[in-house]
Amino acid sequence: MQRDLLKVLLTERELSDRVRELGREITRDYNGKPLHLVGILKGSVVFMSDLMRAIDLPLTMDFMAVSSYGSGAKTSGVVRILHDLSIPVEGKDVLIVEDVLDSGLTLSYIMELLQSKDANSIKICTLLNKPSRRHPEVTWEPDYEGFVIPNEFVVGYGLDYSEKYRNLPFVGVLDPKVYGE
Ligand code: IMP
Ligand code: MG
Repeated sequence: MQRDLLKVLLTERELSDRVRELGREITRDYNGKPLHLVGILKGSVVFMSDLMRAIDLPLTMDFMAVSSYGSGAKTSGVVRILHDLSIPVEGKDVLIVEDVLDSGLTLSYIMELLQSKDANSIKICTLLNKPSRRHPEVTWEPDYEGFVIPNEFVVGYGLDYSEKYRNLPFVGVLDPKVYGE
């Protein structure tokens, strides 16, 4: 698997240190509130499982799966719900947990959807942020972010290319030859 990578971008140690810091920030900010984590499947599962254990508060959690039409390394912006929420978000302080913020179109759509369901608040926690890739119509910024990264296609720690590489314990840059560039 590692032969498909150009380099390691974030080591296991860097990831775990940063996730613990995010957990401390969230613990401080959500003290006394009904914190409800909503992970976006499948990319967020590794981050989610580490992050939730770094939050020292009572919380609830749920998952949602969406797919943007189109496959591979590009996003189309049109989103389809594959798996809906199983718990109502009404009155809850929702924190959306995402693997990587790229164009921002997927999360814009998800936020609109949650806003219509009367959550008390909706914030975003993304492990990775690629600001240079943002769609011009996306004007919001994430409330919590692990790392700002350059415009490179990355895999590992939950992130995939064609459903592969999610189980790498670090984040690496995929060699463009793998997706034919
Ligand atoms: P957005 O709607 O363009 O922000 O799309 C975000 C989604 O695209 C993420 O949740 C990922 O599934 C996928 N994505 C964007 N960049 C990468 C990457 O570098 N590696 C793996 N998946 C990515
Ligand atoms: Mg994703």
